[in-house]
Amino acid sequence: MSSVLEDRPFGSRYTNVYLSIFVLFCFKLFVKISLNILTHFYVVKGNRKEAARIAAEFYDFGQGHSSWADRSPLHEAASQGRLLALRTLLSQGYNANILTIDHVTPLHEACLGDHVACARALIEAGANVNATTIDGVTPLFNACSAGSAPCTEVLLEHGANPQPGICQPSPIHEASGKGWSTCVEALIAWGADVDYNIPHLGTPLYIACISQELECTRTLLDGGANVQKGRFLETPLHAAAQKDSPDIIKVLLEFGANVNARNLELQRPVETAPPGSTAEGVLLLYEATPRSLSQLCRLRIREYLGRSRLHLIPQLRLPTLLQRFLQYR
Ligand SMILES: *[C@@H]1O[C@H](CO)[C@@H](O)[C@H](O)[C@H]1NC(C)=O
Repeated sequence: MSSVLEDRPFGSRYTNVYLSIFVLFCFKLFVKISLNILTHFYVVKGNRKEAARIAAEFYDFGQGHSSWADRSPLHEAASQGRLLALRTLLSQGYNANILTIDHVTPLHEACLGDHVACARALIEAGANVNATTIDGVTPLFNACSAGSAPCTEVLLEHGANPQPGICQPSPIHEASGKGWSTCVEALIAWGADVDYNIPHLGTPLYIACISQELECTRTLLDGGANVQKGRFLETPLHAAAQKDSPDIIKVLLEFGANVNARNLELQRPVETAPPGSTAEGVLLLYEATPRSLSQLCRLRIREYLGRSRLHLIPQLRLPTLLQRFLQYR
């Protein structure tokens, strides 16, 4: 650096004007980098204590979860499930719909913590069941995220919208991906769109298959989900094959999944299964079994007995039942 400084003023030694411009540029760059390094050490290293103090003020590390400074005592009571404190605060005139900067309400907190009594008390005090944070999160989404079936039910009973707005996080996708089948069941019962397709996520059934959630897969199919609808051309069967989930594959096949559907790479489900996997075996076996007749009869039996009771029939007894059924016809 000293040599560069001695070379000043520019142009006196260097006859080439471009060379002097280049040297000036290098000098400026050097100064900039030094300043940045100095700033970094001063701010990050020197002020670490100060940063920790500020952080402690904003977050509540002691509680095991982040709690923003703008949360009210009502938020605190709701998130910790302290019903008595919550009722006291409400009776003291706290607004049940008090918001944080991010528009989180106490009801959001109660649902995230699976505190159904608090959620009920808040709703009775006039909390908005459709309240939305700036991220589009509703109390129902939080209940489904936490797997709280009681909170999900209470919210839906009190008129919460089971369907998210456009670009808002979807409760049914959340519950399906996390395996909370009772929440999925409640959502379907209250009119959530079982085939709701979010372009980058796919349908709830696809999410359940990709997350290897057998119970949710069954719940969604029982609730009328389209077995072929996944994400773009990927079907739920592709997802189950990729994830090597033979049990899910069996359920999907039972509901009539197409083994010849092709994804974007023009692959059939069996071709997306890991080579040598159980999933591949199940699909190959299914494809190799002549089943046009048995499938037809099974469908007839299903019509005859009703879908729910067919589940109770063990697979082994199906042929005898079939014969009897055909005899009676
Ligand atoms: C919540 O939103 C849904 C759909 O917009 C609406 O039908 C319902 O009445 C709302 N519930 C309340 C309590 O505002």
